Amino acid sequence: MFRGLLLAGLLGYGLAAPGMIFNCADNLQDICNNMCWGAYCTRPSFGVTLNYDRYGGTGNRNSDIGKARQKSAGCLPRPNRCSTKGGNPRAGENCDEYPFASTSQADQGGQVSKCVISRHNSRQGNIIGEYYTNTCKGKDCQFIITFGNPAAAGVQYCQAYSDPHGQCINDQVAPIYKNGAPDVRPAGKKRSDLEPEAQAAMFLMASGMELLMPIDTPINTTFFHPTARNATMKAWVEDNDDDEDLVEWDFVEDLVAARLD
Ligand SMILES: *[C@@H]1O[C@H](CO)[C@@H](O)[C@H](O)[C@H]1NC(C)=O
Ligand SMILES: *[C@@H]1O[C@H](CO)[C@@H](O)[C@H](O)[C@H]1NC(C)=O
Repeated sequence: MFRGLLLAGLLGYGLAAPGMIFNCADNLQDICNNMCWGAYCTRPSFGVTLNYDRYGGTGNRNSDIGKARQKSAGCLPRPNRCSTKGGNPRAGENCDEYPFASTSQADQGGQVSKCVISRHNSRQGNIIGEYYTNTCKGKDCQFIITFGNPAAAGVQYCQAYSDPHGQCINDQVAPIYKNGAPDVRPAGKKRSDLEPEAQAAMFLMASGMELLMPIDTPINTTFFHPTARNATMKAWVEDNDDDEDLVEWDFVEDLVAARLD
């Protein structure tokens, strides 16, 4: 049933973009914690289907709509709680929000946010930005995000798709916030307790990566795997804590090979 709804949604929205894979193990651990909390832990949970609407049609993160979305996520006004000026004892962090301010889901309010390593946030932002440019061609588009290597070290909330109550314990040094306060642990214990749009399963990709996707994703569906255009440059940026903007991303096709649970 979800597949039917999803297809109808894609057709209604315009461009049906192949879904995006975030490799949670690759300097995105804290980012995935925030996204997975928003996808599976918070109530109502947001799931992973998002509508890029160019910051409400403005094309600008700092437009009134963009700012309103960042504000309801708890990342504006500045200094926010993630900057040292805002009281964060840890330097080098900034505020990450889910759903993204570039998507219409942010207008629902109640987005979740977390203080994350700024360079991780830049990586996520660059991947999303390049995806919008290359895959959505800069136009409104609906897309799915998926979480690769969700059980990697440092990734805490992605397993919550099958055990929300057991996995959604908001005890990290930088807690997940919602509506101005740390978010609460959900009561539901089963996968079936999640909203239909948040129902997920573990899948194996042709590349060998395990990842979480909407539960009835058909075998052989194409997803896009962001891959650094220049691996040497990526390694150099990582080793030297240099500017993430030096890393360019290509979107390589990967196929769903099997459902694992
Ligand atoms: C997936 O694609 C392969 C290769 O084209 C094909 O043999 C297989 O039957 C497909 N599986 C499904 C479930 O569609
Ligand atoms: C990749 O990056 C390295 C390090 O910056 C650089 O020396 C090399 O020329 C780049 N390769 C390509 C194909 O651009």
